[in-house]
Amino acid sequence: MSISKKRDFLTITDFTSDEVRASIDLAIELKTKLKNGEKHDYLKGGVGALIFHKPSLRTRSSFEVGFRQLGGSSVYITNSEIDLGKRETIHDVAKVMSRYYAAICIRTFSHKDVEELAFHADVPVVNMLTDNFHPCQLMADMQTIFEHRKTMDNLKIVYMGDGNNMTNSWMKMAQRIPMELTIGTSPQTLPDMNLFKETNELGLSTVTIEHDPLKAAKEADVIYTDVWASMGAKDKIKEQIERLNPYQVNMNLVNQAKKDVTIMHCLPAEYGREITEDVIKLPNAVVFDEAENRLHAQKAVLVKLLEK
Ligand code: CP
Ligand code: NVA
Repeated sequence: MSISKKRDFLTITDFTSDEVRASIDLAIELKTKLKNGEKHDYLKGGVGALIFHKPSLRTRSSFEVGFRQLGGSSVYITNSEIDLGKRETIHDVAKVMSRYYAAICIRTFSHKDVEELAFHADVPVVNMLTDNFHPCQLMADMQTIFEHRKTMDNLKIVYMGDGNNMTNSWMKMAQRIPMELTIGTSPQTLPDMNLFKETNELGLSTVTIEHDPLKAAKEADVIYTDVWASMGAKDKIKEQIERLNPYQVNMNLVNQAKKDVTIMHCLPAEYGREITEDVIKLPNAVVFDEAENRLHAQKAVLVKLLEK
């Protein structure tokens, strides 16, 4: 594959609005095919590299299973094998891997490293989570919203908690799908404010930061939350608890939202911190559908990137 033709998926905005919608449609089609036992080996023989510098349950499993179901396979690689940028340059890693693999998927800390890897790679690079973005999760989440609410457009989505890679990914999604995105967080835990400005300037969606959690949750169609200390920042949990306690997704907060509010969490969850167990057990909490849809959404992204 030549450099000029290859596409990467490092953030949601690597896809146009039409491509985001088409990819979600394909994910739903692949989900049906799988459930009906229909063959869909669109990546026959394709081998994906799965590089992990952080732990994972959902992402590793859904990518490995996804490659297999598409007729390909994958190789799990950790930092002890490649020591990215230290044992050898990111350039050389990208060039070598491009000679073996159909796609390079990576979960790491620095988003810049992933951009550099993608710049030099001759095959598609897929972001499986960086400190800044987690686009595959968002594709699965949008699919889940569509399945449960029959639309993904013009909903009030309330992101509650730490301004992190998930919050940034929601803003990227708001650049592609129209929504009223409200971020309920403290002044000390804001997301990427350049992205906040950029998203509002683009004008497709509105993004609001609201420090009053009850006000933020008012009339929400969707309430979404994530851990208060992300991988790589777990040592900050004490101060994060102090900052974010008012933003816990509990019954009091859920009662501010629409009656049929959809409750979402990318998982893993830390119950009693960002979300309470009674909330996650509500019939309209869809966290395991989100987890399942990681499989279908990523298979669709891979097919879109690799289709000739
Ligand atoms: N949601 C998610 O990415 O989960 P893992 O960290 O287990 O992959
Ligand atoms: N913000 C979390 C997401 C986990 C899927 C983290 O980066 O650890």
